[in-house]
Amino acid sequence: MDDGLALTPPMGWYPWNTFGQEPQNEKLIKEIVDALVASGLKDAGYSYVGPDEGICFSRGTDGKITTNLERYPSGLRGLGDDIHRKGLKYALYTDAGTRTCSGAMPGTNGHELEDMRQFAEWRADYIKIDWCNTEGQDIVKAYTRLHDAQHAAGRPVVHSLCSWGDGDPWKWAAPVGHLWRTTTDICAPGQVNWELAMKIAADNQKLYPYAGPGHWNDPDMLIAGMPGLSESQNRAFFSLWCMMAAPLMAGNDLRDMSASTIKILTNPEVIAVDQDPLGVQGHIIHTEGKVSVWAGKPLFDGSQAILIFNQGKSPATVTARPGDLGLDPRTAYYVRDLWEHKTAAPPLHPGESLTALIDPNDVAMFRFSRSNAFPLPPVVVADTYLVSLRAAGTAPQKLSGTIMLTNKRTSELPLWKVRQDLPAWLSVSVAKNGKTQTVMNTVSTAGLKRGLYHTVVRLDNIEPVSGRPMSAVYYDVDLEVTDDVGMTSR
Ligand code: GLA
Repeated sequence: MDDGLALTPPMGWYPWNTFGQEPQNEKLIKEIVDALVASGLKDAGYSYVGPDEGICFSRGTDGKITTNLERYPSGLRGLGDDIHRKGLKYALYTDAGTRTCSGAMPGTNGHELEDMRQFAEWRADYIKIDWCNTEGQDIVKAYTRLHDAQHAAGRPVVHSLCSWGDGDPWKWAAPVGHLWRTTTDICAPGQVNWELAMKIAADNQKLYPYAGPGHWNDPDMLIAGMPGLSESQNRAFFSLWCMMAAPLMAGNDLRDMSASTIKILTNPEVIAVDQDPLGVQGHIIHTEGKVSVWAGKPLFDGSQAILIFNQGKSPATVTARPGDLGLDPRTAYYVRDLWEHKTAAPPLHPGESLTALIDPNDVAMFRFSRSNAFPLPPVVVADTYLVSLRAAGTAPQKLSGTIMLTNKRTSELPLWKVRQDLPAWLSVSVAKNGKTQTVMNTVSTAGLKRGLYHTVVRLDNIEPVSGRPMSAVYYDVDLEVTDDVGMTSR
């Protein structure tokens, strides 16, 4: 897919793990959105947010899906606009079968194109497509049809397949989806299950050859920060998901997070492993008793991520040489601890070993590098993804609105490049001021008829250390013209 989407694993928040279906409504989602911004998760890279199976629409007798306004009084479009205005991306949910899993919402079967058009009108940027009530449907054909329908609807959307591993999507889904669930649900709503989560990690890591930029194995949403887990478990869980280049859809109640949970979910050095532009999924290379070594994750600057996980009941002292960790035994390595935020001095010379003391259900996570620079790949955060302009009167006008894109990490990015397939009324230019770039949208209304105008603008960039393409940035421009406008302002 050349949409440039999800070139690193998508990050965001979904309600299911904590809330299940019942309390989902517009008020909850808006509170979560505000908490996502205020807690610093937005600045850490979390961006996709919206209802899961939240009883948000139903199908009328005309076959069309419409918002359930009792639960979402602003309409699903209104909710999406609110999310976009805050510089976040809009996630919605549906099902490939006849009904969603609980039966509370219609599935898309037989309505694929009209539903994907409606999702585009609601301005969804991410659609999770479940696999309940699909008896008799061919899974490859069904998800391919949905991809084609989404494409025909014309809005670039991250397509999240949710068949819980049914039909081995890793074998065929890369051309039709950006991520696919590999396992059963990680928990019933509100009930964390540590053993199940660890089984899911063990199963998902085996699928490492299938992950890469734009197409990811999804071991389900995060349980870190939910009631019932210790700080060690939260840290271990988050490290495992990052090591597996898993999508990071937080699942905890963001309105009620401890300082420790925020610190774990926003650790920039661990997120950098997940969001690495090479997009390689790490996996277990060695197990001894209850201790596993996770490696095979080269990073964009030539360094390597290493995770050591102690699943035992007592602390473990692990001593290892680089060769034991799948690294070159003849190289001297700088070793950086990604939870302590410290680089050991001096570097580890060939033949020397590293010793780590790891508590039960905890991890040690490192980056091994020939240099002691340890750069972090960009995290791009927007002040808004929606420019709304209004022109009144018959005289031509020039109107403008900006989008500010900031790289929250140390590097400066090259200028964002505008795809030049813009409508005649819009021109877009980009100016750079250090780590923030201003995308200026200028509208000329000369000769426009009264009406509503809309377009989606795409920007592309590359990561400066590796030269790899970064996920494309898309945003919406709305223009309302209240009167027919002449060509000159006489
Ligand atoms: C399935 C999915 C979950 C959630 C529920 C909603 O079980 O795997 O993530 O979306 O459906 O019913």
